Order: sequence, then structure tokens, then C-alpha cells
Amino acid sequence: MIKKMIIVVGLALSISAAWADSCSFELHGTDAREYRDLQGNLVKQIVIPSSCTEFKIGMKNVTKMHKNLMGHNVVIAKADDVKAIAKDGAIAGISKDYLKPNDSRVVAHSKMIGGGEVTSVTFPVSAIRSGDYVFFCSFLGHEVRMRGKLIVQ
Ligand code: CO
Repeated sequence: MIKKMIIVVGLALSISAAWADSCSFELHGTDAREYRDLQGNLVKQIVIPSSCTEFKIGMKNVTKMHKNLMGHNVVIAKADDVKAIAKDGAIAGISKDYLKPNDSRVVAHSKMIGGGEVTSVTFPVSAIRSGDYVFFCSFLGHEVRMRGKLIVQ
């Protein structure tokens, strides 16, 4: 009887963990200006289950560098807007985390962080359901390599 209860409790725990994980994803920002997953694989897309209302992307800057040298953030925007957002971000500069303040093309963004720091961005899935959306780092020049697709399915 006790053994049976332990199995049932264990099953319930694993189901709840899988459910929580499905509406979030954890990234590492590296010193090679890449997003990698916690297993070290390059991340060029994140699949978001359409059942999620909100989605959270967490990110740890795994470099040892200050944010002024190797800052990373996570910005959510339309693929077609990335170039213009990055261009205006370059003008805004590091003091503004390389983002134009209140840029209406940005769906959501995390803080810019330096080595050893963690941050996250949460956004409504309804905001990215139609059109091609991406996540990228707005640090000067990082949007080329630190960029991936958001796919709702
Ligand atoms: Co970066």
C-alpha cells in the first residue's frame, strides 16, 4: 500500500514539473555571443506550446565579463524589426541597455546583464501568435549571432 502511494506521488510530481517547464525556457548567454541551452546546445529556436498563455525565457550570462563588455539580454520582437531596433539601440547606447526607451516595436525585453547575473522576460503568447517573431540580444552587434525564432505550435 505504501509502495503504491509513493509511485502515485512520484508520478504527480513529474507531471507537474513537465507542465511548468513547457511555458518557460532557460538560456545561457556565452562569451562567444551565443544563446545555448543548459546542456550546451546552440539555441536557434524555441517552440512555445500554443496552450501557454504566457511564456517566460530565463537567461544567465555565463561569461565572466562586465555588462559593458559582454552584456546579454533577451528582446522579443518581429524578425523584420530587429535591424531597426538594433540600429536605434546602438544610438541609445549602453546606458540604455542598447534599446531605445519605450520602443514600440519591442514586445518585451529583459534587463541587460553581465557575467554571473540572471534575468528573464515574460510575454503574452497572444502577442506573437501571428507573424515571425524572434528573441535576440540588443547589445551592440550581438543581434547577428544571439538570435532565434519563436515558434508557437
Ligand atoms: Co549579448
